[in-house]
Amino acid sequence: MLNEAISMKITPSVKSHINEVDWDNLPFGKVFTDHMLVMDYNNGKWQAPEIMPFGNLSLHPATSAIHYGQSIFEGMKANKSEDGEKVILFRPDLNAKRFKESCERMCMPVIPEDVFVELIRKFTEVESNWIPSREGYSLYLRPFLFATDDFIGIRPSETYKFVIFACPVGAYYSEPVRVKIEEHYTRASRGGVGRAKTAGNYGAALYPAKQGQLQGFHQLVWTDGIEHKYIEESGTMNIVFVINGVLVTPSEESDTILRGTTKRSVIEVAESWGMKVEERQVSVEEVVNGVKDGSISEAFGAGTAATIAHIAKIGFRDEILDLPAIETRTFSNKVQKYLDDLKTGKVEDTFGWCVIV
Ligand SMILES: Cc1ncc(COP(=O)(O)O)c(C=O)c1O
Repeated sequence: MLNEAISMKITPSVKSHINEVDWDNLPFGKVFTDHMLVMDYNNGKWQAPEIMPFGNLSLHPATSAIHYGQSIFEGMKANKSEDGEKVILFRPDLNAKRFKESCERMCMPVIPEDVFVELIRKFTEVESNWIPSREGYSLYLRPFLFATDDFIGIRPSETYKFVIFACPVGAYYSEPVRVKIEEHYTRASRGGVGRAKTAGNYGAALYPAKQGQLQGFHQLVWTDGIEHKYIEESGTMNIVFVINGVLVTPSEESDTILRGTTKRSVIEVAESWGMKVEERQVSVEEVVNGVKDGSISEAFGAGTAATIAHIAKIGFRDEILDLPAIETRTFSNKVQKYLDDLKTGKVEDTFGWCVIV
């Protein structure tokens, strides 16, 4: 079915609740649109997708995703152009690729990348009136896949459910962030599932992240699982530094880091601007010394939800290291504006990254 033209049933919701939304007070991830897309996998193949009214799913208590963790997701955003004429998806092909890689790592059936993009496109088209047009707001799309066999026992499920829903959202962080370098707990180790966007990675991070929050930090900066000597990434963002004018970010070569769309875009834009970029191991020592001696002029997290999140302070053991004032951060401010402008069609898409819905 899926390699032919996708036939899609659309059952519209009886009444939209869009007029009940308080657009001036939009908490991240708590307001949901009118519809969801559902596509089941059974008998060895994907069944026809359906867009239907948003609502609860009914699950058997033995649903295997709940017990054994075969559950993956993606996060991406749709924006409207300034004149409201165009709906723009930013690099959905990279989400499709990462989703496929997560499927493979978690023994789940792959959704062909072109099909994934087309399902996202179609769903976004149906929900396009939910895309906020005010600056800094977007429609966050959450595609996810989970195992649905009602079976107790460890083996890959034979049935799955793929769902897409969406939330209109504003900024994830309202201020520059304070992060703590984590040297005890580990997010991912070599050979594990750190590169996959699988639910368990986030569940396992909750306890260490909560300890950090109790100490006044927004997020942790994870370090490698063996020696805790090298920087990896942050809770929901990749991490990027400007060191002596060079853009430096931890290499993705180890399979412990999520391959972020935002970070990749930041790197490609920086290169196109003639900036030197290094994807390599970044040691904790280099970061701590670099903040102290001023060779690190900028540090930020890069992610779909947070976009570019300036890092104001880094906690390391008993010290709090202050980074330079946000106004002085030439590169991160410029790239943030450039990416925002690309996503809303204000600048020409010379990279060919945007998909018009
Ligand atoms: C652990 C982790 N790292 C990095 C990122 C950033 O990835 P992206 O820029 O594709 O949103 C995310 C968000 O998806 C994440 O959850």
